[in-house]
Amino acid sequence: MTDLENILKRRIEESGPISVHDFMSDALLHPEFGYYQRSNPFGRSGDFITAPEISQMFGELIGLWCVDCWAKMGGPSRVNLIELGPGNGTLMKDALRSAKLVPEFVNAMSLHLVEVSDRLINKQKMALSDHTVQWHSHFPEDLDGPYIVIANEFFDALPIHQFLQSESGPKERAITYVDDKLTYTTMAVAPDAQPFCNPAYLDKLEPGEIYEVCPSALSIITSIAHQIAEKGGAALTLDYGPEKSATGDSFQALKDHKYVSALEHPGEADLTAHVDFGRLADVARECNVTVAPITSQGRFLERLGIEARALQLSAKATDSQKEKIASDHKRLVSSSGMGTLFKVLCFHHTLSASPAGFRE
Ligand SMILES: C[S@@+](CC[C@H](N)C(=O)[O-])C[C@H]1O[C@@H](n2cnc3c(N)ncnc32)[C@H](O)[C@@H]1O
Repeated sequence: MTDLENILKRRIEESGPISVHDFMSDALLHPEFGYYQRSNPFGRSGDFITAPEISQMFGELIGLWCVDCWAKMGGPSRVNLIELGPGNGTLMKDALRSAKLVPEFVNAMSLHLVEVSDRLINKQKMALSDHTVQWHSHFPEDLDGPYIVIANEFFDALPIHQFLQSESGPKERAITYVDDKLTYTTMAVAPDAQPFCNPAYLDKLEPGEIYEVCPSALSIITSIAHQIAEKGGAALTLDYGPEKSATGDSFQALKDHKYVSALEHPGEADLTAHVDFGRLADVARECNVTVAPITSQGRFLERLGIEARALQLSAKATDSQKEKIASDHKRLVSSSGMGTLFKVLCFHHTLSASPAGFRE
């Protein structure tokens, strides 16, 4: 039994089942035993690998995307570059290396990272030791000047509620402890979850069918969109999930690069849920920013020129490096890799032309 499982077991014995939302929140963010406090959650040697950890090309192209956005904003003398959930800091390190091609951008930029894990903040400090960085535990709403916000595999790590319809009315999926095992059950929708349990959605569900809501994703997107509507800028979110809102259970766990039961190793497996891109786009639109048509990661990276960058890197590479560049490239863009499952959402204030990577 993991340390966290012991804590959850005692809590359930004392106060009854806990919602999927609270389970996910503790399993990922418990200050002592949460998954993101572990020494090495991701990367080739961790439980899963993210796009920036696959290849430097990913972060480099995003760095150039940021510079392009800044230029299309008119090249302001101050701009806040903010990354949500920067993990090991790899994306930002690669992004800043390519952004340095335009020193005016780097001179205008103040760098902000939003992170809750102390362990990962230490990794980010090492990765970005050449830069001045301000860390925040929440998305900063009080900065002067426009915002460029990037988030890769951040929103899928935020806790979700799972609702279903029953004969006695709406219920929330929850977790209890039976026969020495964490097990799914249902419970009445808790008061703090009620505002998100929309009867219009529930009424369309088949018996047992689930619909998911991620309140913190909705509120963070709202905050970002308000800042961009007021101060200018753009936001770029890459993550996995459907382009249009869908029902179904997407709560899942990865350990040692394999899918495992979401309840089996609390604190020791990565837990995620699909990002509801359609809903996030609607929320942003309501804040009066322009939303670019959602695209796939594969198309986005191709439009940014990943093929040319792969060729450029290969030109100076050994044979085995060439093979790795080709397979990393394929993994990032192909539909058998991350190219189709992963989507890209961008919303922005007035720009002189569409943001790179999207067709508008
Ligand atoms: C799946 S990792 C992605 C890391 C990185 N973006 C990458 O692509 O490699 C999720 C990141 O979000 C951070 N995180 C999770 N929940 C958070 C929250 N509520 N606020 C801030 N950061 C959070 C984690 O600590 C981690 O850095």
